[in-house]
Amino acid sequence: MTKNPRGSRMPPLALPICLLGANVDGNPNYCTIAWFTMIDDEPPTIGLVTGKDRKTKDGIVENRTFSVSVPSADMAVPVDYVGITSGRKEDKSTVFRSFYGKLKTAPMVEECPVTMECELRRIVELEGTDLIIGEIVEVYVEESVYHGDEPDPLVLDPLMYLSSGAAYHRLGERVDDAFKAGKKYRRGT
Ligand SMILES: Cc1cc2nc3c(=O)[nH]c(=O)nc-3n(C[C@H](O)[C@H](O)[C@H](O)COP(=O)(O)O)c2cc1C
Repeated sequence: MTKNPRGSRMPPLALPICLLGANVDGNPNYCTIAWFTMIDDEPPTIGLVTGKDRKTKDGIVENRTFSVSVPSADMAVPVDYVGITSGRKEDKSTVFRSFYGKLKTAPMVEECPVTMECELRRIVELEGTDLIIGEIVEVYVEESVYHGDEPDPLVLDPLMYLSSGAAYHRLGERVDDAFKAGKKYRRGT
């Protein structure tokens, strides 16, 4: 295989997209986030990397709560809109329908099949960005995405962002069983 060096440019990655939500001065504001990940499971802790000037961050600091909503692939247009338009320039409070859970101040997106409300634990100030770390207080999953007792990520149809080429995609086919496929590994084959 031939590897082409690309310098220190961003590597091409396929990332799920989420909507980070917070109340700013009492109104919901959402922005699109590709740089997010679970960082612990006990307690369930999530981390999101944001630019320092995000209006959504103002609301997180204000209330010490926020939400993460996982959009489906058919939501690409409004999801992209809140990702290219700051709440500092336009009122984005009605782009999605909002609902609230236990925390009362973390607006979640009604149209998203999976949403979670979070309490802010800390903000790690990095040089050009901030890492927002929060504990998940409650997860809400749309009834229609359940397959038996568990939510089915394929029915959920998450919106994926391909950083190289800047395109939105949906998930592809099943490849193998996670945490089992490795048992088939044979050294040297
Ligand atoms: C596909 C996509 C992915 C994005 N990922 C991030 C991200 O991971 N972190 C971030 O801070 N901004 C990200 N953005 C940009 C913000 O969503 C954008 O700056 C937004 O307008 C901020 O809104 P606000 O100022 O109302 O909070 C992304 C935008 C798009 C379209």
